Amino acid sequence: MHIITVFSRKVVIGFLLSLILFACSKEESKEGAPTIDRRKEYIRKIPGENEPIPEGAAARGEVLIAYAGCYDCHREDKKSKGPAFADIAKRYPIQPAYRDLLARKIISGGFGSWGNPVMSPHPDLKMEDAQTMVYYILSLKYKPSQ
Ligand code: HEC
Repeated sequence: MHIITVFSRKVVIGFLLSLILFACSKEESKEGAPTIDRRKEYIRKIPGENEPIPEGAAARGEVLIAYAGCYDCHREDKKSKGPAFADIAKRYPIQPAYRDLLARKIISGGFGSWGNPVMSPHPDLKMEDAQTMVYYILSLKYKPSQ
């Protein structure tokens, strides 16, 4: 009985010591690590040239968006459940690759580009209409107030 107590006391002390050591080493690595502002990282602007928006696409996209319930979660100039359309416009260059990436994301929904909130999928949207919506959103780059 006595031997067991001595043994377990050693184990407890050893455990405590390793905890302290662990805590110290953690502290060290925290100091040495580069700090990343995750929020800024999310909204980092993607560099790239802007290509022209097809005639009339932005105006059609604005109408489509008004009827598709996007304003339940988005606003033009302010973050709501989803990011502000103006912030999305600032982030992505107007290029077919980003247009399609965003259009696919509107259709299939998702998360991770702007933090944790999730965008619901819109499976009934046609790819072409989603692309037109993206043209409207990205056209906000050129809005004087932005
Ligand atoms: C249920 C709320 C909700 C609805 C409805 C919604 N969105 Fe979103 N949307 C979000 C959220 C949340 C995000 C951020 C997702 C992320 O971080 O990846 C987002 C992101 C986006 C993005 C940027 C995607 C990216 O990867 O950068 C676009 C473009 C967009 N939404 C367009 C739309 C359009 C157009 C509609 C209407 C058809 C719509 N959203 C409807 C919540 C919503």
